[in-house]
Amino acid sequence: AKEGVSAEPTSRHYYNPSCQNPDVTCVRKDSSAKKLITGAIMSNDFLRQLEASHVRRMVDCMYERVYSQSQLVIQEGAAGNHLYVLAEGLLDVIQNSRLLGQMHPGTAFGELAILYNCKRTATVKAVTDSKIWVLDRQVFQNIMMSSAQAQHQEYFSFLRSVSLLKDLPEEKLSKIIDCLEVDFYDKGDYIIREGEEGNTFFIIAKGKVCVTQAVEGSTEPQEIKTLGVGDYFGEKALISEDVRSANIIAEEDDTQCLVIDRDTFNQMVGTYQELQTYLREYVFQLALNDHDRRNARRKS
Ligand code: CMP
Repeated sequence: AKEGVSAEPTSRHYYNPSCQNPDVTCVRKDSSAKKLITGAIMSNDFLRQLEASHVRRMVDCMYERVYSQSQLVIQEGAAGNHLYVLAEGLLDVIQNSRLLGQMHPGTAFGELAILYNCKRTATVKAVTDSKIWVLDRQVFQNIMMSSAQAQHQEYFSFLRSVSLLKDLPEEKLSKIIDCLEVDFYDKGDYIIREGEEGNTFFIIAKGKVCVTQAVEGSTEPQEIKTLGVGDYFGEKALISEDVRSANIIAEEDDTQCLVIDRDTFNQMVGTYQELQTYLREYVFQLALNDHDRRNARRKS
């Protein structure tokens, strides 16, 4: 059997308007699926070399296929049209009728023919019924060709709308974009725990979070506020090494945060001192405004 004869995936794509390139169609998936695919790509020696923005888009565009026991996923020697990530099940890798090994969930495969334009180097066969994420070769190529510039521009406009970053010089904002990562959370996940040490700063790109804090005389932490897209938290970690002053809990499934950690930031941006000063002033100003507001309320 040739790859694709019995197993050609049908494209049931879900259009996500946040995808800018019409040739690259997003497929809706939950955050645990995104985590699994991202982890698989980052554990593959060849795929982990790809740019972070390209990996993100690959994750977005993979769609699911079910293979039944004994079905061929890849045929050695055939042309390759897809890149795969095993989500559930077990696969055999066979070369010249010899079993080379087995693949478990969280493994990316089929990358060689796609990356190097060669024939499939091995056969991959389902040992059990398996669920596999699939990326079409054409979509992969479109993603690789889509300019990093477009993605950069998308992040740039978003970060400009974040109040904390709105006055930051353009070149600093650009450097921040280069060291951003995206984290995914489900409803109820603790993103930050009060009292823990932390060195990451978060900007909400999708969803909502709830801020809670311990209060004297109460055993349960009290809800303080809800934050949404464009809001940020954990900024104190970029300024000092204080422990976290509140809990941050995801309020919706597929809450996504752009994350920057202090060390990466320090290495990549190299202007940590300057940003520290900027943030200190910003946070100081906020505290001052808060103080003024409270005073005004007391007087009235
Ligand atoms: P590709 O050649 O495109 O298609 C077959 C895939 O099997 C190949 O990419 C790899 O992802 C995987 N593969 C090849 N050789 C091995 C091996 N020795 N062990 C595990 N996986 C392999």
